[in-house]
Amino acid sequence: MCGIFGVTGEPDALPLILGALHQLEYRGYDSAGVALVADGGIWRVRAADGTRSVADLSQLTTDHPPPVGHGAGIGHTRWATHGHPTAENAHPHLDCTGRLALVHNGIIENHGALRADLVAGGHIMSSATDTEVMAHLIERHMAAGLSLAEATRAALGLVRGAFSIAVVHADEPDTIVAARRSTPLVLGLRQGVALLASDIPALLGHARQLYALADDEVAVLTPGAISVTTLAGTPVRPEELHIAWDLEAARKDGYEDFMSKEMHEQPGAVAATLLDRRGPDGRLRLDEMRLSPADLRQVDKVCIVACGSSYHAALVAKYAIEHWVKLPTEVDIASEFRYRDPVMTERTLCVGVSQSGETLDTSKAIEEASRLGAKVLVVSNVVDSSMARQADGVLYTRAGPEVGVASTKCHLAQIVALEILGLTLAQIHGTLTPEQIASALNEMDRLPELIEQALRRSSAVDDVAGKLIEARDFFFLGRHVGYPMALEGALKLKELAYLRAEGYAAGELKHGPIALIEPGTVVVGIATRNRLWEKLLSNIAEVHSRGATVVLVADDGDREAAAVADHVLWVPPCSPLLSPVVGVVPLQQLAYRLARLHGHDVDRPRNLAKTVTVE
Ligand code: AGP
Repeated sequence: MCGIFGVTGEPDALPLILGALHQLEYRGYDSAGVALVADGGIWRVRAADGTRSVADLSQLTTDHPPPVGHGAGIGHTRWATHGHPTAENAHPHLDCTGRLALVHNGIIENHGALRADLVAGGHIMSSATDTEVMAHLIERHMAAGLSLAEATRAALGLVRGAFSIAVVHADEPDTIVAARRSTPLVLGLRQGVALLASDIPALLGHARQLYALADDEVAVLTPGAISVTTLAGTPVRPEELHIAWDLEAARKDGYEDFMSKEMHEQPGAVAATLLDRRGPDGRLRLDEMRLSPADLRQVDKVCIVACGSSYHAALVAKYAIEHWVKLPTEVDIASEFRYRDPVMTERTLCVGVSQSGETLDTSKAIEEASRLGAKVLVVSNVVDSSMARQADGVLYTRAGPEVGVASTKCHLAQIVALEILGLTLAQIHGTLTPEQIASALNEMDRLPELIEQALRRSSAVDDVAGKLIEARDFFFLGRHVGYPMALEGALKLKELAYLRAEGYAAGELKHGPIALIEPGTVVVGIATRNRLWEKLLSNIAEVHSRGATVVLVADDGDREAAAVADHVLWVPPCSPLLSPVVGVVPLQQLAYRLARLHGHDVDRPRNLAKTVTVE
């Protein structure tokens, strides 16, 4: 997720652009850049210094100010998906002539083929990004005589994937052409000025009218005017927005808090993590992984280390990898791992899972694994985070920045990324046929829609939460992949609602903890179908008969589950190994609602930090 901004008609645009990039930093901050049409060309400055990128950019533009009397301007904050967060990969990107500049938010799925075709046609690429391909595509069409808008429309007709872009050209100094597909773009107008941004906060206070661009619409901005067409060039009337938000509300995109916003970003986070993982032959290829098929072919054991929600994602991956790849898969709490005597060789693949890529326990664990000779792969949400730089290979989730302390979209994206890794290992080890892999991937492609369906059922979860407001003692029970789901549900309730909650393997309860069950105890059971579903239901019947209040997460229409529950949180069914990606959603919503009912701050829970950089 990146942030883009543009303005035309503003005589002194730079301070406005830099202020907007500061607003957009939460969308991505590993690098930043600005370009203005000036002196018959493009004036461009870029900085790649992590969270200091926008600050560095401001300083650089102070040291090297733009020419007076510039035209349109665009700016960008980057959350890298393709290409390391270096200045060379920072946006805006130029074409071969250096007279066109472009910024982009999204992922171009067919960038590889487009890049090859452009290079074969003589274009010189200067970055490793998917974005730069679009700058050269538009250049090619302008060279054929099209205007900037016509060339942009023609170029975007060749592009697959998600984008919101803004592009300027020295031949049309006061024009910005903008377009979007699947990622947000908002337009603004005031007397003599037209603006665009990835989201509303960056426009608040600068525009009198706001408009939302729809998918595959193209806008032409000139000082004080906006015209919109379809990709085919048919004029359309953009939807006008009526926003009564203050700035903080706008950054939350109208949601009450970041956690709500990020829960609702889960379909997009999973879709983005799944995007562009297959080559033209349909086989999985994880370009950024930096571990070759030969490296992975020699792996004879997988060891995953993580903390918190990332540990729970790792536990789900254990079931998937052992089932698909038949490789022994250990999962360790990172803070324990390095103090046992882990047995590892150069044929061990150690996977560190960390959305921040900065958790000290996990970082130290992969350091120990590396010392023992293992190959280290990091699954992280932050490109070039400390752990990503420490590892032999990386696999990125693409959930975008997660502001809420309780992990939601990153947790789901981690499960998906780890299962993609599992299928890749199965492909390399030949333990699944291409057809089996394709079938699993096709089912994974349905997950964003299934998550969306689960999210739409929040009022049912709220009703149940309202009935549990007096409860103080929760068990979360699950079997098979339901067990890590139970652990995650318990963690969410503890860290958000400050309620005592224990995640437990349902089959283990009878070995002692069932003594705790009494009337008033709430048992949340994960009853989505898997191979132990019947056993889970009998475990639930045991606690129900002892007076527990039972809440089940169950597949739509599961009457047998309903028969042993006081309340059911229904989810759309999917295959067992993928079910945590959907089944965790009501658990997040339950913890969220109980926290709100108890009056707690869901974005900044007490005693917690978003990233734990201490042992
Ligand atoms: C989860 O909701 C918590 N915020 C916490 O357990 C978190 O998952 C853990 O600290 C690991 O963080 P990481 O993924 O950044 O390493």
